[in-house]
Amino acid sequence: MDLNDATVDNRDIAPDDTDMSTLLSQRQREILALLKAGKVNKEIARELDISVGTVKQHLVALFRKLDVTNRAMAVSKSFRLEKYQAESDREKEEFIRSKSTVESILEKRPAAVLSLKLVNYDKSASEKRIKDFYKIFAEVAFDFGAVFFSHVQGHCEMIFGVGRVRRHDVLRAVRAAVAVVEDFKRTYGSGIPIQGGLAFGTLVASTDRDGAWSGEAIAGAVISRAHLLALNAEGGMIGVDQAARMMIRFLGVDMVDGKVQFIPLDRNFVWKRTPVLPPVKMFGRANELTSLRSALTALTGGIGGTIIVEGENGMGRSALLQVFAQDCQVINVEVELWVCSLPDSQPGTASLGMLEKPGTGRTVSISDFSDYLRDLRGRGPRVILLDDIHFLPDLAAIDLTDVLSEVSEFPFLFVASGRRQMKTMKNIRNDVTRLQISHLSEKESAMMVASILGDEHRQASQIVTLAAGVPEFIVELCRPILMPAYRDGDTASIPLSIFSVVIERVEFIGIDRRFLHLIARQEEPVQVATVQKIWPSWAQEFSSVLEQAVRVGLLVLHKGDKPMDRSVTFRHPIVRAVMASAAAGNDELLQ
Ligand SMILES: Nc1ncnc2c1ncn2[C@@H]1O[C@H](COP(=O)(O)OP(=O)(O)OP(=O)(O)O)[C@@H](O)[C@H]1O
Ligand SMILES: [Mg+2]
Repeated sequence: MDLNDATVDNRDIAPDDTDMSTLLSQRQREILALLKAGKVNKEIARELDISVGTVKQHLVALFRKLDVTNRAMAVSKSFRLEKYQAESDREKEEFIRSKSTVESILEKRPAAVLSLKLVNYDKSASEKRIKDFYKIFAEVAFDFGAVFFSHVQGHCEMIFGVGRVRRHDVLRAVRAAVAVVEDFKRTYGSGIPIQGGLAFGTLVASTDRDGAWSGEAIAGAVISRAHLLALNAEGGMIGVDQAARMMIRFLGVDMVDGKVQFIPLDRNFVWKRTPVLPPVKMFGRANELTSLRSALTALTGGIGGTIIVEGENGMGRSALLQVFAQDCQVINVEVELWVCSLPDSQPGTASLGMLEKPGTGRTVSISDFSDYLRDLRGRGPRVILLDDIHFLPDLAAIDLTDVLSEVSEFPFLFVASGRRQMKTMKNIRNDVTRLQISHLSEKESAMMVASILGDEHRQASQIVTLAAGVPEFIVELCRPILMPAYRDGDTASIPLSIFSVVIERVEFIGIDRRFLHLIARQEEPVQVATVQKIWPSWAQEFSSVLEQAVRVGLLVLHKGDKPMDRSVTFRHPIVRAVMASAAAGNDELLQ
């Protein structure tokens, strides 16, 4: 496999005419900023009004200064550099020059692999055609923040999740495939002479401490799986493996039903929402339902309102809205449930902010939605549920807030749900009620597990402990027991969906991964003194990393009688299990 992530050939090194008094020249800083914004060479050239050749020369000089060999590494290193902004220039230069700061570790990561191949490569493809295909593929890979590999036979792979893990990586991969096809069609006309494969699984990659790919090894069966799927797909289609299909369903969308094994590489292809599993039996949430129901009573008396349901991923916001929608129907109050589109799921709409009305196949922009609301003037009481408003881009969220305040005199009850910190939604009315939904109690969790697995299942108590009150974790941990096909050999008992979601979160925090790996693989509670002993070279940084992990809520610090007796545990057992599994291959750390 040939690593081809826009690697620059060192023989082309241009004369270095930059001002060495500062680390990077003005131009190099500009280019670095554009790299970070995900621009390809062509776009950089356009923005800076220079030729593509000149851009390449600047890149070579920039890579040399940063001591990296490709753009992904340059971006990753520059992010780490920013953390050192406060330090003196000399220290900064030393940091850049010291290879030791890029010490990489091996980590198991969730990854979506997209493999694309030119149809009839051996028969019809001209050299130019193949080159164009590689080029387009590489550019799209960079635009999507994926790592790119090319083979010799008109066949390439794009790997999502190596640079950064996002739970929507499988959907992004499909969008990337469509983008490649669209670009290719621009030169070669209609027809889709491309076939593909999409696989989801784990791979082992070398990463630096923050989890960014260090530019070295990547290996995993998931790559060859995607490759094989592509070989066996028809032209214009991508074959999708079982794990990718599972992940797609986990994200709440699907093509038609869970059995679809191929996705058309068609620009107009859209995801359908997975039909809501009817009807959710709720455990806990009594206070939340009481608040919602009293607002509903007020509404039947002609008084509208606004309620914001806040909670982390998987806490059951959508479930709560669904149960409440059923309540409204029971007493014949008009109710409609709108859901903000997942980012990256629909080609071309990511920046707009779209709302879908489930069951109607209608997807509208915020401005259409606003018109729709205004047209409801004079109508009777109505409940409008808006799920996942954190997916709206900032501007769309502001537009939504505006229209909601505009119609605040209507007898409507708005219930919006989203993850925390929805600042913009505050100003709709003065009387916004906020419902914070958090962990289920152990008893509620146990009841929920029993309702899924039946009474007294052998693994019930283990699941209750592992899920620690997060309903989505309960559902996902039960799933492989109910459906053995969902088991993934690589991750032992942790379903890939959970593995992916947890890694995404931990990565977002940007905390030293070696530290978490180390703690996760010790028996809990872990004596602080023991960790310090295992890793003496680390003593200086130890307390600040520990403090960070405790502050963000990953670890809990237990104080002892003496400072020596302090110990730590993971706050969430699933995070510990995931980090222990991700650390596989790092046994040398534990010597
Ligand atoms: N209180 C509950 N009782 C029983 N099942 C629940 C409860 N809360 C959530 N669930 C189930 O847990 C899963 C996750 O919940 P849900 O999808 O509502 O979470 P969410 O907060 O909307 O998460 P997301 O961040 O993915 O939008 C669903 O299968 C849901 O039916
Ligand atoms: Mg939801």
